Amino acid sequence: MMGSTGAKCALLAALCGVCQALQGGMLFPTESPSREVKDVSGLWSFRADLSPERNRGFEQQWYRSPLAETGPVIDMPVPSSYNDITQDAKIRDFIGWVWYEKDVWVPARWIQDRGARIVLRVGSAHYYSVLWVNGVEMTEHEGGHLPFEADISGALRQTSGNPCRITIAVNNTLTLETLPPGTIQYMNDRSRYPAGYFVQNTNFDFFNYAGIHRPVLLYTTPKAHIDDISVETAFSDNIGLVSFNVSVLGCSKAAVKVTLSAQDGRCVASADGSRGVLKVTDVSLWWPYLMHENPAYLYSMEVQATAEDGQTDVYTLPVGIRTVKVTSTQFLINNKPFYFHGVNKHEDADIRGKGFDWPLVVKDFNLMKWMGVNSFRTSHYPYAEEILQMADRHGIVIIDECPGVGIKDIRSFGNVSLAHHLTVMEELVRRDKNHPSVVMWSVANEPASEMPPAGFYFKELVSHTKSLDSSRPVTYITDSNYARDQGAQYVDVICVNSYLSWYHDPGHTELISLQLNTQFDDWYDKYQKPIIQSEYGADAVPGLHSDPPMMFTEEYQTTVLQNYHNVFDQKRKEFVIGELIWNFADFMTAQTITRVVGNKKGIFTRQRQPKAGALLLRERYWRIANETGVLPTWARYPCQ
Ligand SMILES: *[C@@H]1O[C@H](CO)[C@@H](O)[C@H](O)[C@H]1NC(C)=O
Ligand SMILES: *[C@@H]1O[C@H](CO)[C@@H](O)[C@H](O)[C@H]1NC(C)=O
Ligand SMILES: *[C@@H]1O[C@H](CO)[C@@H](O)[C@H](O)[C@H]1NC(C)=O
Ligand SMILES: *[C@@H]1O[C@H](CO)[C@@H](O)[C@H](O)[C@H]1NC(C)=O
Repeated sequence: MMGSTGAKCALLAALCGVCQALQGGMLFPTESPSREVKDVSGLWSFRADLSPERNRGFEQQWYRSPLAETGPVIDMPVPSSYNDITQDAKIRDFIGWVWYEKDVWVPARWIQDRGARIVLRVGSAHYYSVLWVNGVEMTEHEGGHLPFEADISGALRQTSGNPCRITIAVNNTLTLETLPPGTIQYMNDRSRYPAGYFVQNTNFDFFNYAGIHRPVLLYTTPKAHIDDISVETAFSDNIGLVSFNVSVLGCSKAAVKVTLSAQDGRCVASADGSRGVLKVTDVSLWWPYLMHENPAYLYSMEVQATAEDGQTDVYTLPVGIRTVKVTSTQFLINNKPFYFHGVNKHEDADIRGKGFDWPLVVKDFNLMKWMGVNSFRTSHYPYAEEILQMADRHGIVIIDECPGVGIKDIRSFGNVSLAHHLTVMEELVRRDKNHPSVVMWSVANEPASEMPPAGFYFKELVSHTKSLDSSRPVTYITDSNYARDQGAQYVDVICVNSYLSWYHDPGHTELISLQLNTQFDDWYDKYQKPIIQSEYGADAVPGLHSDPPMMFTEEYQTTVLQNYHNVFDQKRKEFVIGELIWNFADFMTAQTITRVVGNKKGIFTRQRQPKAGALLLRERYWRIANETGVLPTWARYPCQ
């Protein structure tokens, strides 16, 4: 296991007398000579439990027989959110348990090979999930944005010869202790609401999409298998250093061999044993793509574990060698100053909601590189690991954020919430620790960090995250007052969101310069830490114009951006180390009087077409890239 779990253990011991440290690894399923992967995404059967208590599925044990025998089912694509797939507003706005089911054939050779482990993995499902195979419960998982899996070999071998029936029940109900938090409110005025009427309240500004959002996979490993790998990298002159830990489960003793190969296939270092340090001479470092002419260099680390009976498991991990460091005014990658010029995103697009989609992922990377984006934040939850792999390969830097968004109610700063938050950080670090693109952890977005209990909460949260990974800085994103914020003292980088001339002084873009200068100076004077403007922006309805600019027009959005940029250009000579626009693209929200079919702060529409703001940022980002780094040969930048 990585890191210490001391803080969480102390908390949990105080709460309930036990320490449930997270066990085991969560390696991305890949094929190898010893592993096979079978994607069982596609069309699944689906049924929402519309009973008043949403509990009929459990009372009637819908997992025990084919779902269609329990009542009417509909087609549901996996991965996707279920909300926007049907014509039924009840499904769009549904709160409670929904049921998914699919029959899949498992290859007979997997079942017959008693030396094989068969694992069922769900990339993510929002929010609470229970998983059955052939009517037998395999696992439960809390949290909407990280993977979970179960060894289903035993259940399959008892029922071989039949298709394997996978049932997954998913509940999108949020409570004061979930991440993000939410509350269910019953409306008891019988003159205005029917009996049993309830709504779900949240404090975050995006639609609470739900369902199975990422691929569902079956994969095999040998019984004695590589359960986890951790790497940490450094370099000295031209020598790269890769420290590694490998954990092997399913046997009492395994011989571990680790080999590191360059991109041309040449073996550059190797070692025996489950722990060690590989030395790479003439190292090619992993650089962001606008810092170096040979960016995003990935070595390939092959790990072999051979058990006493001769069975060998093989797992190959891409490894980028780089370092990250923070000073009081700079963010250093490989000891060179890095300026974040990037975007905040969502995993959101049209009818698929938050469902993973390769065309969307590739389009978004193409748009980011078209714009000269060198970084993004996974606002406001962990994105699919496939997206981090893309960023590793393209040399785009990531601030990896957990789903700690909308923590506004003082009851959500209690120790039950904190214990869950620590577990989510363990799950996030466990999954993402080996990605060179990830350069900083964000433990929360816009919490009510001026409330008294936030001090203890963020102290524990940041120190626990550092105990899990001492190689990366930790931050959270604040929109509270610099003098009253209780947690900023614990972070490495101050990340501030502000919406000058939008939520404050709407319409008054002439105030941005004064107010933004004050904002930066206040935070820097108090903390002496580098600052990222982690959100700023304005809504623009595409095609809406006015001059002089008025709110909601494309001209107003660009005017707000220009005013912010003038200040950034002064302050980036001092201690401002980055700017992330809110938002890359328009995205769906709950229905409110301030949102016209979603949030329009995108510089691209939800269909990924540019507004005027995208062209402005494109010119700016390439200009900064030209001033601060190395332009790639493929780039056709607008300032040419
Ligand atoms: C699931 O949904 C129901 C109905 O909304 C709710 O009362 C319950 O607490 C939820 N259970 C879990 C484990 O999330
Ligand atoms: C390997 O494990 C040891 C002991 O837990 C720890 O000190 C070290 O930091 C780990 N190294 C990596 C690369 O995870
Ligand atoms: C949380 O636990 C800590 C340490 O056990 C304790 O000092 C603190 O009072 C608890 N906080 C709340 C809100 O109960
Ligand atoms: C990059 O900056 C240099 C120096 O300011 C300038 O001469 C050159 O034209 C710029 N190149 C592009 C493509 O903007």
